[in-house]
Amino acid sequence: MSHTIRIGALLSGSGTNLQAIIDSCNSGKINGSVVFVGSDNVNAPGLDRGKKIGIPTFVVDYESIIRRYKDSPDELIIPNDFDLDDILSKQNFFPEGADINRAKAFFITRAIAEAKVLDKMRPYPFDLLVLAGFMRNLTPYFIDKVNRNPDNPCIMNIHPSLLPAFPGVDGYGDTFRYGCKIGGCTVHFVDYGEDTGPIIGQNAYEITEEDTLESIKAKGLNLEWELYSECVRLFAQGRLRTVKMSYTLKGGQKILRTVVKVLPSQKE
Ligand code: GAR
Repeated sequence: MSHTIRIGALLSGSGTNLQAIIDSCNSGKINGSVVFVGSDNVNAPGLDRGKKIGIPTFVVDYESIIRRYKDSPDELIIPNDFDLDDILSKQNFFPEGADINRAKAFFITRAIAEAKVLDKMRPYPFDLLVLAGFMRNLTPYFIDKVNRNPDNPCIMNIHPSLLPAFPGVDGYGDTFRYGCKIGGCTVHFVDYGEDTGPIIGQNAYEITEEDTLESIKAKGLNLEWELYSECVRLFAQGRLRTVKMSYTLKGGQKILRTVVKVLPSQKE
């Protein structure tokens, strides 16, 4: 059964994916509306896409928090409920044995920034948070406060590669430089790792000898706009379920994986 959903959006750049979602809400493809647009980047052009049509916007300047932590860490206030051990036990960014000071600096600065994002989002309740080119990893500090029901995740991300290939900050560049013959984009729910969450949808394009990095970006972005709107539409229709799967391989090794099942459409 479809219901009107409230969509919050975070972005860092031009916001063409946000625009696709706004357009799909306006055309009725998505039964929902965007209730805020937030950014980590003061100069993100995507903020104007919201402002122009009266959607509330806000910025949390991650960069300045990270700089201040390096220069004068004592001036920064760490949130009261920040629990480094809890976060380290959940996170998937730093493998065991990684430099603990680097990990600590990362999670402290992110928690300070994420607490501010949570404060800014508070006046605008939402059902779904979409990361629309938001170039910051969200940590368990933030995710646990948004995903109140872990069986019903509500943070989505779009990534410019066919995950699990090429997670990280340059999906198109990595795909192109590897010499892939097919590239694509992925929409997934956000979990505690970098681009590792349960996959909701994927779309693929062919890469030919004539292609350049610029041309594959253009092909990919076109597919992203369509894919993201479609995945948000499925969410609004209540058709996405996460299911915990368990597989036993030949040698007896067990694979546990949460995957997304898309339920068939109901007559509206
Ligand atoms: C998109 O290509 C999106 O997939 C990518 O940033 C671009 C944002 O474009 N996201 C990531 O790489 C996340 N790791 P947009 O601002 O025009 O929507």
